[in-house]
Amino acid sequence: MDKIVIEGGKPLSGEVRISGAKNAALPIMASALLTDGWNTFHNIPDLMDIRTAKKLLKSLGVIIEGTSETIRLNAGAISNFEASYELVKTMRASILVLGPLVARLGIARVSLPGGCAIGARPVNLHIKALQDMGAEVVLKDGYVEARAKRLKGATIYFDIPTVTGTENIMMAAVLADGVTLLKNAAKEPEIVNLAQVLNGMGAKVTGAGTDVICVEGVERLHPVEAEVIPDRIEAGTYLIAAGITGGEIRVMGCCPSHLDALVEKLRDTGMVIEPIEGGLKAAGNGRIRSVDVKTMPHPGFPTDLQAQMMSMMAVAEGLSVITETVFENRFMHVGELMRMGADVQIQGSSAIVKGVGALKGAPVMATDLRASASLILAGLAAKGTTELSRVYHLDRGYQDIEKKFSALGAAIRRVSGS
Ligand code: UD1
Repeated sequence: MDKIVIEGGKPLSGEVRISGAKNAALPIMASALLTDGWNTFHNIPDLMDIRTAKKLLKSLGVIIEGTSETIRLNAGAISNFEASYELVKTMRASILVLGPLVARLGIARVSLPGGCAIGARPVNLHIKALQDMGAEVVLKDGYVEARAKRLKGATIYFDIPTVTGTENIMMAAVLADGVTLLKNAAKEPEIVNLAQVLNGMGAKVTGAGTDVICVEGVERLHPVEAEVIPDRIEAGTYLIAAGITGGEIRVMGCCPSHLDALVEKLRDTGMVIEPIEGGLKAAGNGRIRSVDVKTMPHPGFPTDLQAQMMSMMAVAEGLSVITETVFENRFMHVGELMRMGADVQIQGSSAIVKGVGALKGAPVMATDLRASASLILAGLAAKGTTELSRVYHLDRGYQDIEKKFSALGAAIRRVSGS
């Protein structure tokens, strides 16, 4: 298995270009199931999760062309309505085919994603919403099977604002009979991006980006050409890299308004962040000050940047309380950061991080996607050599990470293993 080796302690400087957002590309690719012609999607990142999504869609009978940033998908002849365990187990977001398949074919069978490293992550809210829309849902042999001749518009109330749940039900509702109201919907930019794509197909979705989304069902949709938004989590990771290494990075192609919560926090640490044409410029400015962080659904501080922020707090001046409210059990990076000299105590859903000034390189292990990014950041700031194993987690969500950091002056390389 590949490893990433970092000689830390160098301030990074230069320019990095942000790729398309994984979490927007995945639902947008699934939305191709709703039409029967060629859809064209631009700014698709080159990532393991995207390759898994292609495999899954192909297994359903979708024809896919293009391998680079632009891909074309045609679901005109979909022949299969089952997403197998083999594919779903490698990527939870596979559940995103459930809504569009039921809407298009009247039936879907999707393996239940099961637990995962960052908590139970159930899909009960997706299922309940489909039932509210008249689907008959059976859970059997580890699969969820949903059937409905035609889904009916309904008022759905999400107990928790679930991101993929909101996306799944939006996609189910666009071809339903009547109006669907999604209340307490998630408000992430990726949901707005999906709504734009659906509306481009002829759907009638309003309110995306607020907590009440209204979908007026239509009889049929047509293919669309659309663009995936930039990855705000990747952009945020590079902004933090400027702070943790005391460097200066121009993060190009990002959408600053998607990063408000993070940018505010980074400014509170003493970092200087300025809008520039085409992106944001971030610079460390002396020793980073500790700040408290609480993750929240958008527009709050994203849980997907919590681990990276913790790495920066590990070297900051003072005491930081980092509270995770979105997922239970999302502190697996703590043990690894402590191996590098971080001083962190977990108390329930909070981590108390006492800044230690400098970390020391060590062999560490990635446990999930964002935890891996936090360890890369820690390694870049640390004195000495850090060797990160299990980098396949990282490859799920960060395009060309070692190339992008190398171009910023980092001593980072991938070592291929057997
Ligand atoms: C998405 C993102 C992920 C991000 C997360 C929160 C994608 C592909 N993934 O994941 O990167 O970390 O949003 O911003 O977009 N929940 C339930 N029942 C459900 C669904 C969710 O209890 O049926 C709970 C979850 O356990 C969690 C919370 O709701 O505690 C939010 O999860 P959710 O927004 O659904 O996360 P994902 O959509 O899986």
